[in-house]
Amino acid sequence: MQRRKFLESSALAGSAFLFSRGRSFASTADAHVEILLDEPIGTIAPTIYGHFTEHLGGVIYDGVWVGENSKIPNIGGVRKTIVERLKAIKAPVIRWPGGCFADSYDWRDGVGPRDKRPRRTNFWVEDPDAKRLNGTPVQLYETNAFGTDEFVRFCRLSGAEPYLAANLRSLPPLDFDRWVEYCNSPAGSTTLADLRAAGGSREPFGVRYWGVGNESWGCGGSFTPEEYAAEFRRFTTWVPSYGTDLAYIGSGPNNNDLEWTRGFFHKLNGGRPVFEDRLFGWSVHYYTWNLSRGKTDNWVEGKGDALNFDVTDWYELFQQGLMMEQIVTDQWGVLGEFDREHRVKLVVDEYGPWYRPGTEVDPTHLLGQQVTMRDAVHTAMTLDIFNRHADKVGMAACAQLVNCLNALFLTHEDKFAITPNFHVFDLYSVHQGAESVRAHFSAPPIHYSRDGKPAQLAGLNGSASRREKTLNVTVVNPSADSPRDTEIAVRGGTVSSASANILSASDLHAHNTLDHEEVSAPKQTDLTLRGGMVAVTLPPASVSKITIMLS
Ligand code: AHR
Repeated sequence: MQRRKFLESSALAGSAFLFSRGRSFASTADAHVEILLDEPIGTIAPTIYGHFTEHLGGVIYDGVWVGENSKIPNIGGVRKTIVERLKAIKAPVIRWPGGCFADSYDWRDGVGPRDKRPRRTNFWVEDPDAKRLNGTPVQLYETNAFGTDEFVRFCRLSGAEPYLAANLRSLPPLDFDRWVEYCNSPAGSTTLADLRAAGGSREPFGVRYWGVGNESWGCGGSFTPEEYAAEFRRFTTWVPSYGTDLAYIGSGPNNNDLEWTRGFFHKLNGGRPVFEDRLFGWSVHYYTWNLSRGKTDNWVEGKGDALNFDVTDWYELFQQGLMMEQIVTDQWGVLGEFDREHRVKLVVDEYGPWYRPGTEVDPTHLLGQQVTMRDAVHTAMTLDIFNRHADKVGMAACAQLVNCLNALFLTHEDKFAITPNFHVFDLYSVHQGAESVRAHFSAPPIHYSRDGKPAQLAGLNGSASRREKTLNVTVVNPSADSPRDTEIAVRGGTVSSASANILSASDLHAHNTLDHEEVSAPKQTDLTLRGGMVAVTLPPASVSKITIMLS
């Protein structure tokens, strides 16, 4: 709702009153946030704060997996620093093994004795980004040292649920049944349960989340939505559950393709309401390309640069990122045509900015890129969208965790860095499992110029959630140069104290390398109350968490 419309609403007149009272206290605020405690949206699923790891470039090898005999500190071969950091941000779920890789992967290659596992060609071997390796085999040929056991170990160590993406393009449905059996069948019950036990895991993994293909409109098979619906049925009907509450995730649209969603659900059950109890989620992938303006639309050459950008690129990335809100509401609308009770949730399991190659910390890191304050702001805005739509978004996964697009970590051999995105996930972790409440953010719009034409962006963005007497408001000031003096009013509650944790940097391009940290952890500060409202100055290009204690 627009601020003007909002003020017109008689039901909300009390909030307007709060602000007029604020002004009588000689307020100089130029931005306002109103939290409506009596308008709950829904519980924020912790799984909205999920991650994604694919066998791609440096994500698994040189990233998550260093091997048990490595000098790099590890727990059972898994890089220790990543595990510790994931625990700190309460990582709820991790998706694996792809991405496009998933539809070329035979899960059997990655189980059993590690020295007997086959070497295979990696899906990404012919990606344009792979050309710079000049045939160097690293990362282009899969050793299978990291398979299902190692992934589940990584999840357990990090405190996350595993989310496996099954191969629907190049393996038959029986292999899906068998993978579920390997993971979930009771100890001693089957040959595959024995194989699992021989690998060190006698007890079932109890894997709940199963992606049924990935991008089935593209690398996952180039299916039509109708063909995919038929495949989905073949893969998912009568799969034994072994007592685990299986939750399937269907391969949803590219961006906001409504016809893919409509075509799938129409075919799935002849247009009748969805019947598949296990259909937990409908995946959505949306990347932000920051296409170079006025140059080319070619998605490889035309993509923006992770480090070399101007103020227009800065705003344009956010503009494109905010499309996520439209996608969530549009896709939700189409789901409602088939699933009136909205049992199926949206699973945004790939999102983030995707830039052209050239800023990766090591040449073997295909699709690797640097992560600046710009990406932190973009990530925060995206997470705020998910929070605001807590009734619709059941899970999400940032693409990808390490040494890849929109990463939280950069690693190479024994070197390790956290990116500004890590701090965003750290700040936002308080929202997990809390009640999302409606909040209005109003500030003068930001005006900028796009190819000589005027353009504008909302002046503030954010979300709010409540857990008993604690209210957390996360807010982004996307202005490249102006701080925002902001007042936060809480309707339906009384504020007793407040503090802020603010992530900011003096340079929009600030980022961390493996040798140098430019973006340090958010700074905490106590806030003053002004006429019952919280007063805070939000620096330019910042991401903040305001914690408000209610009496
Ligand atoms: O995240 C990189 C790739 O982007 C994934 O493998 C694929 O699903 C998407 O196109």
